[in-house]
Amino acid sequence: MTDAGVDAGLARILIVEDETIIARDLASTLVELGYAVAGMATSGEVAVVMARALLPDLVLMDIRLAGPLDGIGAAVQINGEREVPIIFLTSHADRDTLRRAALSAPLGYVLKPFEAAGLRCAIEIALYRHVIDARLREREQWLTTTLRSISDGVVATDASERVTLVNAVAEALTGWTQAEAVGLELDGILTLIDETTARAVENPVRLALRERGTTPVQHDALVGRTGQRVAVDDRAAPILDDAGRLLGGVMVLRDVSEQRRIQAEVRRLNAELEKRVVERTHQLEAANKELEAFSYSVAHDLRAPLRHIDGFSQILLEDHVAGLAPEALGHLARIRTSIKRMGQLIDDLLRLARIARRDLVVRSVDVSELASEIIAELRASEPERQVDVRIARDIRVDGDEHLLRIVVENLLRNAWKYTARTAAARIELSTEQRDGARVWFVRDNGAGFAMAHAERLFGAFQRLHPATDFEGNGVGLAIVQRIVNRHGGRIWADAAVDCGATFFIAM
Ligand SMILES: Nc1ncnc2c1ncn2[C@@H]1O[C@H](COP(=O)(O)OP(=O)(O)OP(=O)(O)O)[C@@H](O)[C@H]1O
Ligand SMILES: [Mg+2]
Repeated sequence: MTDAGVDAGLARILIVEDETIIARDLASTLVELGYAVAGMATSGEVAVVMARALLPDLVLMDIRLAGPLDGIGAAVQINGEREVPIIFLTSHADRDTLRRAALSAPLGYVLKPFEAAGLRCAIEIALYRHVIDARLREREQWLTTTLRSISDGVVATDASERVTLVNAVAEALTGWTQAEAVGLELDGILTLIDETTARAVENPVRLALRERGTTPVQHDALVGRTGQRVAVDDRAAPILDDAGRLLGGVMVLRDVSEQRRIQAEVRRLNAELEKRVVERTHQLEAANKELEAFSYSVAHDLRAPLRHIDGFSQILLEDHVAGLAPEALGHLARIRTSIKRMGQLIDDLLRLARIARRDLVVRSVDVSELASEIIAELRASEPERQVDVRIARDIRVDGDEHLLRIVVENLLRNAWKYTARTAAARIELSTEQRDGARVWFVRDNGAGFAMAHAERLFGAFQRLHPATDFEGNGVGLAIVQRIVNRHGGRIWADAAVDCGATFFIAM
């Protein structure tokens, strides 16, 4: 018995027997067997008092005792005060007596007349079981206390899904106390539903029992005793013994209502923001359209009076030149230059406005090919210029071919123009990876510009070089940027004075 922590030699035994001869016989046998006799009682009442006073390790109890309290009654009282292993002594084991005796959970029976070997066996087994039981109770206590004090809800069931444990958190979540819930079907104390459809979902314990494995975390709502709903994350695991037999299941529930409320709030805010962005975009688009339409019609209407001025100044020049003083002729020439310039500006404005009015026809466009054509035109127009042009092959971009041609043309024309005064002029069109996205670019080694002025580049009629150095109206890049924007892309530049410029497009 050292195994169970009890030294047989020291076990102190209380004998309860109303027949003196048997009692004495028992006492001497016990001593012979190496036990100590703690005391001898002859009635149930005395046995209860002696057990309380002497704290024996074991009680040998005759079932039939004279007096109001028989052995069974005394055993119940003694065990009610302190857990002591009790062995019943009985001379005739009738069914009824045995059944009643069983209710007081004795740890053994010894039939009278007893014999030493049988008595010893019964005592050893009883002592051993008592220690084991105490340890089991201790562990159970420990487990129960742990489970009850953790911050997640825990519900355990037996193999047929009957509740065996409900911890404090689960009591609060379900509205059932452990005492009420034990023995009920799990489905009887809580229902899990899908939060959005409100349809009942299978409780994870059933799944865990069926699959004999831990279930993944489910995001549900728990409906408790009074119909209250709580958002929970739940999962379950089967409880298996060493032999792999199913003992039951355990479910863990975590109240996530606050978390879900915050998530829902974030979703709502995002949706609202999205809606507002869409609204603002619509408003902006509408305002833009209106502005385009306005500038288009203004530019268009300006043409007629300009044509008149042009026509009549032409008549003056052709028919009345004789009547004009040389100074007047000089003025007239200036007027005509301005008329030409204004005509140009109106054309540019109309071009700019047209970009926004055009519907996009998007398909895969071979930008390399467009570029080659444009360079060929440029070379034909200025055959005397020597420019080293490199165009990467097969640059394909999804977009409107007509508009993309305008983009490539403006960028290449600029590169061509702003390298006019550069020895060994070089122009390159290629692609590269930037921040994980493919961008294409046009690079030259021409005049360049100071990055400090870069934000003006794409404004209409904005120029960074004087017309005396390089001709132009300052509309090209404004058109390019509009086209890129309409494709949902982005354009930016990198340059330095006299070191050339690069225009990047991400689209
Ligand atoms: N490749 C380049 N190298 C140096 N400067 C450039 C280059 N491309 C554009 N710029 C600068 O940006 C300004 C705006 O360019 P944009 O193409 O809009 O106008 P432009 O070429 O002057 O006239 P337009 O294109 O209307 O004939 C130019 O005036 C020039 O100062
Ligand atoms: Mg230009």
